[in-house]
Amino acid sequence: MKIGLLGLGTIGSGVYEHLSRRDDISVKRILELVRHPGLEHLETSDFNEILNDAEIDTVVELIGGMEPAHTFTVQALKAGKNVVSANKLMLSHHMEQILTLAREMGVHYRYDASVGGSIPFLYNLMRYRGADRLVGLSGIVNGTTNLILDVMQTDGRAFDDVLAEAQRMGYAEANPSADIDGIDAMCKLSIASAVAYQKYVRPEDIDTEGIRHITAGDIIHFKKMGRVCRLIASSALNADGSVSACVEPTLVPDASTEAAVRLNNNAISVTGEYFGVHTFMGQGAGKDPTAFAVELGLRDILEGVSPRLNPIPEGYARIDNAAAKRRYYVRTSAPLEIAASALSGGAYVTEPIGVRDMHRLAKKLRETDPGLFFAGISE
Ligand code: HSE
Repeated sequence: MKIGLLGLGTIGSGVYEHLSRRDDISVKRILELVRHPGLEHLETSDFNEILNDAEIDTVVELIGGMEPAHTFTVQALKAGKNVVSANKLMLSHHMEQILTLAREMGVHYRYDASVGGSIPFLYNLMRYRGADRLVGLSGIVNGTTNLILDVMQTDGRAFDDVLAEAQRMGYAEANPSADIDGIDAMCKLSIASAVAYQKYVRPEDIDTEGIRHITAGDIIHFKKMGRVCRLIASSALNADGSVSACVEPTLVPDASTEAAVRLNNNAISVTGEYFGVHTFMGQGAGKDPTAFAVELGLRDILEGVSPRLNPIPEGYARIDNAAAKRRYYVRTSAPLEIAASALSGGAYVTEPIGVRDMHRLAKKLRETDPGLFFAGISE
């Protein structure tokens, strides 16, 4: 197998190192704008050198972001090359086009590394959905925010300090606001939900809230409540065929599975009507764990896994976040104007309220209090 590797950043360099140890998969070309000592003979800044090289059968796309990743992916698939990618932003916005094109061309588009890092989560979702009706997904899918929330609560360290550590460790996105504003988790939930329910879920339909505004004062409240804050992405297939989907900070009990997920780890649960609940846990971000997932995808292709493993969803899900109701912790200096009991320091615990209503209310209140923070309270 001959690879054209797009990008030699954190994950790309990990993939290059992993593949250097194999003799059945070799990197023939690397698309990079800057030159790396010792790799100049492989490096090019012209994607056409990869596209037009008939010996390169598989493109590994690790440049991330929307463009030129999208254009290069489409061109590679149209040229009959397999593509293996960790690009959740691009895939979540172009999933129908990419999966359909790969199917038409009879090539692989493997995106295992885009959700859950090293965890064989998407791969198993693809296998499960043929044997059971999948009805729920819930969990921690962003390593950067989990590190921040975990270390803030256990060590009392400041938000910015832990975020800088996540950047140093290679966990955070190039623009870390994608992590702390919940966008990365939203894209991952969109992809996983499409695989699970066989209907595309548009990222922009997912009610999404990040952890940007959490403070040490909020964490004091959580400790008194016997709770830990985690950024939870969840979706469900409702009885009427609609899908509910949201990403939001969530206060989980101290003794829960999610509370035990430490540092950059992820934990994602899938619910099937027959098998019940399976939880996948492991490192969700970072150079080696993500490179491992890319290598698994490549190995599957090499060993002859069918491209048809990859399901093609039918149509788009109707999103309904009105029915799902929960209590929320809200800290704001703006008048809350909904039924809630007051804690100290401008914090409240609301009566149960719809997810969509809470996200809309927060947007409105932020016009007067931009620092508002809210978190769902799990059952
Ligand atoms: N920034 C992402 C995270 C990388 O922290 O989870 C892995 O997708």
